Amino acid sequence: MSSVVMVTGVSSGIGKAVAKQLLENSYEVVGLSRRCADELKKSFADRFVQENIDLSDLTALKNHLPILAKRYTDVDAIVFCAGYGRFGSLEEFSYDQITDLVNTNLLSTVFLARAFLPQMKQARKGRLIFIGSESALSGGRRGAVYTSTKSATDGFVKSLRRECSSDGIQVGIVTLGMAKTEFYNQAQFTHGDSPDNYVLPKDVAEAVFMMLESRPGSVIDEVKITPLKSVITRRRTD
Ligand SMILES: NC(=O)c1ccc[n+]([C@@H]2O[C@H](COP(=O)([O-])OP(=O)(O)OC[C@H]3O[C@@H](n4cnc5c(N)ncnc54)[C@H](OP(=O)(O)O)[C@@H]3O)[C@@H](O)[C@H]2O)c1
Repeated sequence: MSSVVMVTGVSSGIGKAVAKQLLENSYEVVGLSRRCADELKKSFADRFVQENIDLSDLTALKNHLPILAKRYTDVDAIVFCAGYGRFGSLEEFSYDQITDLVNTNLLSTVFLARAFLPQMKQARKGRLIFIGSESALSGGRRGAVYTSTKSATDGFVKSLRRECSSDGIQVGIVTLGMAKTEFYNQAQFTHGDSPDNYVLPKDVAEAVFMMLESRPGSVIDEVKITPLKSVITRRRTD
């Protein structure tokens, strides 16, 4: 029987690459995002299911999560890839923008884990893999809000790792440097152009795959992936 993995942020970047890697290796994938992952749906119609969901809307999410948990009682693992970056000095953020970023990057993740943990604990197995950020470790200029969501995710993962081990559940995090995805589309900066200035989504997918395939008795707690040479370039605004 194939394993079933829920992947958030499946329409783009890291989540899309993780889902593709899993589908190419006979896994079944339940994908979560607002947009449809049409390419995956077309290529893997028999093993890919899409759930269109806005993770920033916590009220709707709270109502939807019990339905999802009932619909997918056989989820073996969740890979939390959904998230976005918004950068600027703190006072440039509206209160709504702060709320949206924290809801999407942090609280929806905590809620989703909360919804699926009971059935994983009952099955005495399960894997939760989170995508963290290098900026959580060092802080980032004009990134106070984004970085706070990623630092909190880091603390959440480390605590959950301890909390869940006695129930047979493996918890791990991929700590990521700049990756070539849609993440920087709206930002005033991005990574350099050279292939050694960015991580590819496939690099992350391969690490996640390794974490998912690890022996149940051991856990790959953390993988850190960064570009060989870190280069940040400012975007031209004209
Ligand atoms: N790229 C980097 O350099 C980098 C570095 C460190 C950490 N990360 C982390 O890696 C993760 C993946 O980012 P990425 O680089 O793959 O970016 P991406 O290409 O922009 O993909 C982001 C994904 O998150 C989903 N998403 C965003 N807001 C959502 C919402 N409100 N509801 C549901 N889904 C939502 C998007 O789907 P829809 O738009 O279809 O909803 C999309 O599938 C994020 O957690 C990010 O913080 C990225």
